[in-house]
Amino acid sequence: MKLYSSLCCRGGMLAALLFAFATSSRAADTPTLKDAYKDHFHIGVAINRTIATGTAVRADNVNRTLEQVRADTAVVREQFNQIAPENDLKWALIHPNPGPDGYDFAPADAFVNFGVSNKMYVIGHTLVWHGQTPQWVFEGTNPPPAAVTSAPGGRFGRRFGYSGPRASREELLARMREHIHTVVGRYKGKIKSWDVVNEAISDRGTNVLRDSLWLEIIGPDFIAKAFEYAREADPDAILRYNDYGLENPDKRRKLITLIKSLQEQKVPVHAIGSQTHVSVSGPSFAEMDQALTEMASLGLPIHITELDVNSAEGGQRNTGAEISENAAATQGGLVDDANQRLAEQYANLFKAFLKHKSSVKMVTFWGVNDGVSWRANGTPLLFDGNNQPKPAFDAVIRVGTGEKLSSGEPSTAQR
Ligand code: GLA
Repeated sequence: MKLYSSLCCRGGMLAALLFAFATSSRAADTPTLKDAYKDHFHIGVAINRTIATGTAVRADNVNRTLEQVRADTAVVREQFNQIAPENDLKWALIHPNPGPDGYDFAPADAFVNFGVSNKMYVIGHTLVWHGQTPQWVFEGTNPPPAAVTSAPGGRFGRRFGYSGPRASREELLARMREHIHTVVGRYKGKIKSWDVVNEAISDRGTNVLRDSLWLEIIGPDFIAKAFEYAREADPDAILRYNDYGLENPDKRRKLITLIKSLQEQKVPVHAIGSQTHVSVSGPSFAEMDQALTEMASLGLPIHITELDVNSAEGGQRNTGAEISENAAATQGGLVDDANQRLAEQYANLFKAFLKHKSSVKMVTFWGVNDGVSWRANGTPLLFDGNNQPKPAFDAVIRVGTGEKLSSGEPSTAQR
């Protein structure tokens, strides 16, 4: 496996010299991730702008040399058959300004072209979200509610950083519809599946929906409207509701309430996106099994949309915590035996995914390697920053090929 990776990713003289040896020994019969799971589900990866454009552009908080970008790209092409855009299809990136010239399609076009030219299944992420959405979307001439004005910097003002006059419900719905029709319409037939609404569920209290400007201005049917507009724009696309922390039973109950209510209203939700930003200490196999069993009861395919496993000390207790604070939870150094525990946790997760393969139709890693991950200090992925496969890679391959695990066997605690 080591030889194999230096071959495909390091290039240069040494690799060339090793080539004959490596291809004729273990490297040649090491399956790729996509091959190990080809009979079960797509194996995907979120890619950043450097990979989509083939340049060392500074974007997505990523700082890679051109040589590193080429190596990252080689791993993406070799190991994965599905891609998601890490940032470039979010509203703030693709539609930063109002008006007819307010779109910036070039990076998103590069992303889609990368997927199409490499014959990959292409995901669109995301249309309606409380994060990475420009303020102009919500601006208008209507006074904000009393809760905002009577408490400067209060509940709404502080939370969303905007307490000025708001768009009306009709104005915001019109902006949402125009955005969805333009973006989904542009990539119709190329992007096969969309995260239509991202992270609308509340982490706290008994409210199903989180406070957001979408909810405040439009009302709870902003979700149904987004799905309806997406279906109008591309009737053939698979439309997902995507959220994090669904391993947490309380949050999962809210998901089930929300999706059942949308189903009763005949809203076109076609799949559940479960981000699955987890850690080495949880969920256990049994907890993931339970989560997938309950989500599968909705009768929809499940897509694991943003998989990574935090190995940092500071990130071990925050499943269900606000995801935007999660990148910070990589302090404190790594847990002891981080590589081994990462391998065990990935083995547990993939065993659960395989057990539920009649529902789990896609597993997407949130980044190709630790060097480009949003929580790089938690070393959460299968390849290190030099694109060397870690023991977790071997563990995932072994689960996929049904090989007995020698080092990635689930610990008793995890079973
Ligand atoms: C959420 C979003 C992703 C990404 C991560 C953090 O999970 O859905 O697009 O922003 O947070 O990187």
